[in-house]
Amino acid sequence: MLESVTASPAIQDRAHCLIVGAGVVGLALAWELSKQGLAVTVLEREPECGQGASAAAAGMLAAGVEANAPGPFLDLCRRSSRMWRSWAEELRSDSGVDCELETCGLLRVTTRPESISDLEVRRAWQLTQGINVSELLSLDQLRAEVPGVSAMVAAGLLYPDEAHVHSHRVTQALELAARRHGARIETGVEVTSLKAEGDRVRATVPGRDLEGDLAVIAAGSWSGNLLAGLGVEASVEPIRGQIAAVCGAPGALPRIVFGDRGYVLQKRSGQVLVGATEEAAGFDAWPTLSGMERLSEIAAELIPALTGARFSNSWAGLRPHSAAGPLLGRVPTTDRVLLATGHHRNGILLAPVTADLLGRAVLTGTDPPELAAFSPRVAWSA
Ligand code: FAD
Ligand code: GLY
Repeated sequence: MLESVTASPAIQDRAHCLIVGAGVVGLALAWELSKQGLAVTVLEREPECGQGASAAAAGMLAAGVEANAPGPFLDLCRRSSRMWRSWAEELRSDSGVDCELETCGLLRVTTRPESISDLEVRRAWQLTQGINVSELLSLDQLRAEVPGVSAMVAAGLLYPDEAHVHSHRVTQALELAARRHGARIETGVEVTSLKAEGDRVRATVPGRDLEGDLAVIAAGSWSGNLLAGLGVEASVEPIRGQIAAVCGAPGALPRIVFGDRGYVLQKRSGQVLVGATEEAAGFDAWPTLSGMERLSEIAAELIPALTGARFSNSWAGLRPHSAAGPLLGRVPTTDRVLLATGHHRNGILLAPVTADLLGRAVLTGTDPPELAAFSPRVAWSA
């Protein structure tokens, strides 16, 4: 047990937390812990922060369409969604970087007449949860919200509170804010093993070892590599997502349009993102021609004019997926190592709540009750 960190505020003051991975999750936690006065070292193997899945994300904050049933995951998403506005403001004042939070609303549409009843079922349970969702909208009503919606669309729902942010700006802001509060962030440093030894944790990186009171694995799709050394059989697998970006006039797409197979949304610069594939392709994070073909079909199903827009860019990233959902809290074999991964399609949305709850888990020495449903101890036995 971790009596020392649990019991003594004096020890908390000097606790040194190692964080493996500088994606949105690791950086958000580094910002939170450094604000609370903890000594934090983030170790990132890439030459720059935020180059993993976080660099690829569309940046939607869309609990209403990403959670498919009431329960702890929906509650976690909604809690984080509510935190985002003030989190973004504080982040801007700490870093000077604007995350471009746009509360533009989202149309959840379907091109399949047989799926209209699924939308109605979704709406019915969401209303019982207090989610702000419209009545079922016809194609004409949807076109009044977003001109150019495809004639293939049969019906849809409007979620007026859904939003998006600029993912790259989020990781940039988090890095600056965490550094400003004293976090040490080392890039180009790969952690090859993590071991709990007595009252310390030892991270091995090329040429040296680092010690901490605690460590948090926030290594995205690669988290399983480090868990093996801790005696934890764990599965976090990469699910590739590809995005195509096309040019658009700023403001041309006033809301996110989210369909059966993908989505389109417009960033403040005017760039329109068409996303995203979901593929088991191992650790290959490169876009493919067949991926672009699929994204072109998605664009045609949602806003056909986009298929003729000028192509601007494409990219891919590896979503960290775990069959058990997000994995947040202490690992089964030691109190000194915590896990913060498995955010799959929702790491940007879930960054504020992850930082808050994991921050409390680190500071108090005990995982807060809100993490019970996401505990790696429940997901896997030692
Ligand atoms: P990552 O960003 O992958 O970061 C992990 C970091 O750990 C990496 O930088 C990696 O280099 C580092 N690392 C790994 N192993 C080691 C090691 N041994 N030593 C040192 N460093 C190591 N989420 C949303 O909320 N909204 C969206 O709209 C959205 N859209 C998406 C679209 C696409 C196409 C994709 C791919 C993802 C999308 N996501 C979205 C999901 C989101 O991007 C992820 O859930 C989130 O970025 C995961 O963050 P992370 O910090 O856990 O992982
Ligand atoms: N949340 C959107 C995606 O993962 O593609």
